[in-house]
Amino acid sequence: MSQRKSSEMEGEVFYPSQSVIDQAIVKDWDSLALKASQDLAGFWEEQAEELDWFQKWETVLDDSNKPFYKWFSGARVNIVHNCIDRHLKTFRKNKLALIWESEDGKLERTFSYFSINREVSRMANIIKAMGVVKGDRVTIYMGRIPEIVFAMLACAKIGAIHSVVFGGFSMDALQGRIEDSQSKLIITCDGSYQNGKVVELKRIVDEAMKGCPSAENVIVVRRVGQDVPMEAGRDHWYHDLCSLPIANGKCPTEAMDSEDPLFILYTSGSTGKPKAILHTHGGYMVGTYTTLKYVFDLKDDDRWWCAADPGWITGHSYIVYGPMLNGATTFLFEGGPTYPYPNRWWQCIERYGISVFYTAPTAIRGLMRFGEAWPNKHDLSSLRLLGSVGEPINPEAWRWYYRVIGKDHCPIMDTWWQTETGMFMITPTPTVPLKPGSGTRPFFGQEAEILNDEGEQVADGEEGYLVLLNPWPAMLRGIYGDPDRYVKQYWSKYPGKYMTGDSAKRDKDGYFWIIGRVDDVIKVSGHRLGTAEVESALVSHEAVAEAAAIGLPHEIKGQAIHVFCLLRKGFSPSAELAETLRQHVATHMGPIARPEEVTFVDKLPKTRSGKIMRRVLKARAQGLPEGDISTLEE
Ligand code: WT7
Repeated sequence: MSQRKSSEMEGEVFYPSQSVIDQAIVKDWDSLALKASQDLAGFWEEQAEELDWFQKWETVLDDSNKPFYKWFSGARVNIVHNCIDRHLKTFRKNKLALIWESEDGKLERTFSYFSINREVSRMANIIKAMGVVKGDRVTIYMGRIPEIVFAMLACAKIGAIHSVVFGGFSMDALQGRIEDSQSKLIITCDGSYQNGKVVELKRIVDEAMKGCPSAENVIVVRRVGQDVPMEAGRDHWYHDLCSLPIANGKCPTEAMDSEDPLFILYTSGSTGKPKAILHTHGGYMVGTYTTLKYVFDLKDDDRWWCAADPGWITGHSYIVYGPMLNGATTFLFEGGPTYPYPNRWWQCIERYGISVFYTAPTAIRGLMRFGEAWPNKHDLSSLRLLGSVGEPINPEAWRWYYRVIGKDHCPIMDTWWQTETGMFMITPTPTVPLKPGSGTRPFFGQEAEILNDEGEQVADGEEGYLVLLNPWPAMLRGIYGDPDRYVKQYWSKYPGKYMTGDSAKRDKDGYFWIIGRVDDVIKVSGHRLGTAEVESALVSHEAVAEAAAIGLPHEIKGQAIHVFCLLRKGFSPSAELAETLRQHVATHMGPIARPEEVTFVDKLPKTRSGKIMRRVLKARAQGLPEGDISTLEE
């Protein structure tokens, strides 16, 4: 059992039990941290040596053209070779790589490393036969089924760049991402299940493709078995393609340059359209491999479950790549936590003997509402470690998670990171003493600071901008097609330091406490959305002349979207119109973006240069001081 002690700084501290310490891969955090800080390149080189390379690097870290860092320059590698191929020569060949359960719990599919290799090779052969070559972009828009994992790995295997669009996004989001990436091929399913209902993904693809001339082919995986329109010559059923001779047989894993693109993933920034964050084969591979190994202490008999969606970075790094690089068994669940009952996740943990479980605070808060009786119906004794990600976890949720799910003996790894970082950046490892709500300290090789507007470090306990000081292997290599924006967005405010976009505090023990975004990014249930995207969905409705979106605190979601609309002549405010607009945003962007509340206004607070001052709206809505409003127009 762990013991509690109170600290004079930030309330309670939770210490690891002896059994956690005995099992931990990293027993002596301090000396590894010291070693990594004294020799950053040496630390990462040692990690890289644990993986297979077709050809070794010339330089571990090339920082001759900052901030365009390069990792493992000159090396030849393919992440899929390390996720699959290398395991086939070991006992892991027959180990389960992937376990999947359907939303209704009636279907289960399992794949050993041997069989996942077949599935991935088959899909890779098909993608190649569609004319996709190294460097081409492929958009993947699917539900949580094994084929989404195969599709990602199949692209990587042949050197194509995948761009996964979260299956909960709608038309506009999908279209924008296909267009921006100039994808040649789309891989989708007929539909996906969400709380017992079918989401017609293929129909959304059809709509989106009306404006996307780059896409030549669509592969459709059958999941729900409904009739969908298929355009001859363009749309192909996956199961039909699988029966062609071309699909079967070996598919060589392409030797890539370490710095060759692996995937792009769109994420919301402070302004304008979502940005395509670029990650590469070599560095991303070493980063996700190492962080998952050390932070979640993965062993060969573990059953790992990251309950995110493969369509977000969490799913990329820690459902697909990280676990398979470690030769782990990863669990993928099609459904959500509460359908048909709020015990669905706990049932899966019991059924599959999950030992390490990783989810988001919003899910914990949502499940807390249903009470302890639901988890208590299940045997959760297989669990040994828990994780949290996506937004700050409030101490009440932390304690509930620790006590009710972890039965007071599973340390919670609160991992702070971003789409851009690719891997955990501020996180404990299992033996680190925990304080509920803090991600503790930067990962090995990393250092963070909290700065004020002038770039000076603030005192401990004071809030400021969180920056990272050192390069790391899984760092974004830029914004696809927009190098200037990469420099401007992340490296300009404080030259030489990576600007995270978050505010945070550090306490006297050197523990970091994330407060939240300082830009126009809203985190709704852990999902990252941009005010600009919500606003552009709103003004695409005929009634709306101007719109402003802000995030306000929400008990379960963390933040919820509130919008302020100025109507065009001829339209007047009504409850019906408000509802229509909420629905309009959901239809265009996806249900997660549905505004909580629509307020009609005659005027929006703007600067004299015409920029909407969302900060002022936010303060007013919460009855807080409006801060500096000297730039507000008359
Ligand atoms: C933003 C990045 C990469 C994981 C999924 C989110 C917030 C993420 C934490 C955490 C407090 C967190 C930050 C960050 N965030 N993890 N453990 N504690 N805040 O990736 O969608 O790119 O969002 O999520 O605000 O900047 P993302």
